[in-house]
Amino acid sequence: MKLIIATRNAHKLEEIRSIFNFQELEVLSAFDFPDIPDVVEDRDTLEGNAVKKAVEIAQATGCWALADDSGLEVEALGGAPGVYSARYAGEECSYADNNEKLLRELSGKESRSARFRTVIALSDPGGSAQTVDGECPGVIIEELRGENGFGYDPLFVPDGYSETFAELDSEVKNRISHRAQALQRAHEQWANLLSSL
Ligand code: IMP
Repeated sequence: MKLIIATRNAHKLEEIRSIFNFQELEVLSAFDFPDIPDVVEDRDTLEGNAVKKAVEIAQATGCWALADDSGLEVEALGGAPGVYSARYAGEECSYADNNEKLLRELSGKESRSARFRTVIALSDPGGSAQTVDGECPGVIIEELRGENGFGYDPLFVPDGYSETFAELDSEVKNRISHRAQALQRAHEQWANLLSSL
């Protein structure tokens, strides 16, 4: 039986492979299916997009499929940018544009609490899906700090630390991140299922 990881992001693939110990299962990624079109992420929740990606890839390939979707949820902004994190400042915007908009929207707000959240969906070949999620709470600081990582990392200080995600070693970030928590839960929930396929 094959499992398809529904991403063309090599870094995510590596992270997923390093947490799951896939021995019996043949694991492929969206890189191995260049003819399958990219799934349009048009749902209004992280769950919706993760499930849509997993189900469409499972149905297109006839295999089990795993997909994820992540975003930054800011308390004073009612959970925004959330599912729209990648294009918060508009289509084709850069990480810098998004960070600038976030600082603008938060200026003068009392609470700067936020959390990163990841949802991972697993679909069987028929399109029946289940999800797990993971989160990393923290605060948004007032200016960009650090060069590592991507996205909102230079503005996000995780609870229990004084450095931003962009200042912390990637090894530390990958241990405490929303993606790591979600992958850990995915492993707890689905390792037996996946090893029995
Ligand atoms: P994706 O679902 O993993 O592609 O994430 C969607 C968007 O959320 C990214 O384009 C980033 O803007 C933001 N994001 C997700 N995870 C992270 C992270 O670990 N650090 C910073 N930004 C993130």
